[in-house]
Amino acid sequence: MGDLGEFDSSFIQALEHRPKPNASEAQGIPLIDLSPISYHEDVETNSETDPASIGELAKQVGSACRNWGFFQVINHGVPLDRRQRIEAVAREFFAQSLEEKRKVRRDEVKIMGYYDKEHTKNVRDWKEVFDFGVEDPTLVAASPDPDDDRVAYWNNQWPEYPPMFRETCEEYTRDVVKLVMKLMELIALSLGLPAKRFHEYFKDQTSTIRLNYYPPCPSPDLALGVGRHRDNGVLTVLAQDEIGGLQVKRRTDGEWIGVKPTPDAFIINVGDIMQVWTNEAYRSAEHRVVVNSVKERLSIPFFLNPAHYTEVKPVEDLIDEEHPPKYRPYIWGKFQVIRKRSNFIKLNVNNIQIDDFRIAD
Ligand code: OGA
Ligand code: NI
Repeated sequence: MGDLGEFDSSFIQALEHRPKPNASEAQGIPLIDLSPISYHEDVETNSETDPASIGELAKQVGSACRNWGFFQVINHGVPLDRRQRIEAVAREFFAQSLEEKRKVRRDEVKIMGYYDKEHTKNVRDWKEVFDFGVEDPTLVAASPDPDDDRVAYWNNQWPEYPPMFRETCEEYTRDVVKLVMKLMELIALSLGLPAKRFHEYFKDQTSTIRLNYYPPCPSPDLALGVGRHRDNGVLTVLAQDEIGGLQVKRRTDGEWIGVKPTPDAFIINVGDIMQVWTNEAYRSAEHRVVVNSVKERLSIPFFLNPAHYTEVKPVEDLIDEEHPPKYRPYIWGKFQVIRKRSNFIKLNVNNIQIDDFRIAD
């Protein structure tokens, strides 16, 4: 028996959400080659980069965000050995006994760490996770109460084993932060905004990294590794191993499409905050993870989130009389603590979502 325990009814998806036995793995999710920018600290101000190739890249990123909300990048500048090292320590961590892993378990107070009972839309996911903050500590809102302006801190919890776990995670984080800020520059340019338009929101960022471990599942036809969802931050940068299982819901026909593992590529997806910032020019894509009965799978998402005090609303530069705002402003930190809290209570109502702030057409 694995660390998730017996397969029981808490894992079973409603009929309409169960995976189909042979989902297509259509090519068509855009693959973008970042080599024109990957060796520079920032996109625009480097004199060696050719402005025409940056304009071309921004265009590719823009159309991928518009049409899919999902794309993969290669030649992204994150050294392969950084990624191999974090994958190796993650595998070693999850291979330990449940008792060892629970030494860094997450609870209502300690938000970061190990967890094996996550639910997505009230159905349990077939996975184990380990979360850590990009900033340590992460500065957050103390409560969901809109009148409470106290702050709180989430501290990372690091396991004693394997050795070098913390250093390896922190090194990986530094490289992925560089990559994601370059992607934000390309996205800003693709919207006709100054390259650094979004940078101000990431001082005191509340971004997190998650190590996802999906053990072999006895009933992969009934359960999911992660149920269908949209990521609620700005942008996600995901490393997946060679097993595959991530599926994206295609906009044109609602089909679930497998994202084929590409060696050394990162998968990028638009989150809900980007959808609000761009006033729905770039929409977050629904996705999920299917599991299998034979092979374990590892994935590492980096969730880019702004500072907790960020008021999320459509960016003014994109709003005019013909393009009125589609969302009322909301405070990210309040939204975030409501979401975190809901991990520990079974909800009878829908969780908070950006639709709650949508202005009717
Ligand atoms: C997630 C997620 C995808 C994957 O953790 O939000 O969508 O491939 N993960 O593990
Ligand atoms: Ni996700």
